[in-house]
Amino acid sequence: MKIIIKDNKASASKQAFAIFKNSISNGAKVIGLATGSTPENLYQEWVDSQLDNSNLISINLDEYVGLDEKSDQSYHYFMQKHLFKQKPFKKSYIPDGILAISNPQKASADYNKIIEDNPIDIQLLGLGQNGHIAFNEPGTAFDSITHEVQLTENTIQANSRFFSNIDDVPKSAICMGIANIMSAKEIVIMAFGENKADAVQKMIEGPVTEKVPASILQNHPNVTLIIDQSAASKL
Ligand code: GLP
Repeated sequence: MKIIIKDNKASASKQAFAIFKNSISNGAKVIGLATGSTPENLYQEWVDSQLDNSNLISINLDEYVGLDEKSDQSYHYFMQKHLFKQKPFKKSYIPDGILAISNPQKASADYNKIIEDNPIDIQLLGLGQNGHIAFNEPGTAFDSITHEVQLTENTIQANSRFFSNIDDVPKSAICMGIANIMSAKEIVIMAFGENKADAVQKMIEGPVTEKVPASILQNHPNVTLIIDQSAASKL
């Protein structure tokens, strides 16, 4: 794993954007995208750039069960707001959180087929405070594919800052599995702030274990981790 430590989120996000731009100019066509506060600056760099997405396909990691683009907490809404509206892709995929209410198996299988049909060239990831990637919580099998996930209290708590009330945070999500993420040819993972320092330390210095989902990235041949000084404070 290549590790890049920058002074702050702004400079780290510039660096991450340079990696995506480079990969795209080298032929990457299918781009795996993530949500959360971590990638916001990176998407701003993308929006401010000359990069044209009209020949690219995007595939997002996850969506809450029960939310769609009409909800401003949905990941559909987030992506429209931060990237897709300004820089549309040829085609953008995000799991169907509405179908998932009645048929999570179909929502998962449909999405998994999309990933199989469009192998991901470069995947962006954030890191949960408990070491999760996408919504793959501690204990998720390393060979998992797209599935419905019951969110842990820790994740519900962490993500409640985006909702007016913690009771409004959905309890489950449809999420790419760890095997899907590992199948990407290249991975860029970012983490910023003191509250990610533990997870960063366990991810790169700890054993590869399903207790720390992100630790599997130690086994991927092409990963770049980009962090700020605070996230690096426990290394
Ligand atoms: C959520 C998302 C993840 C994200 C993580 C960290 O659970 N499903 O994809 O990486 O939170 O979020 P943040 O970037 O807001 O710290």
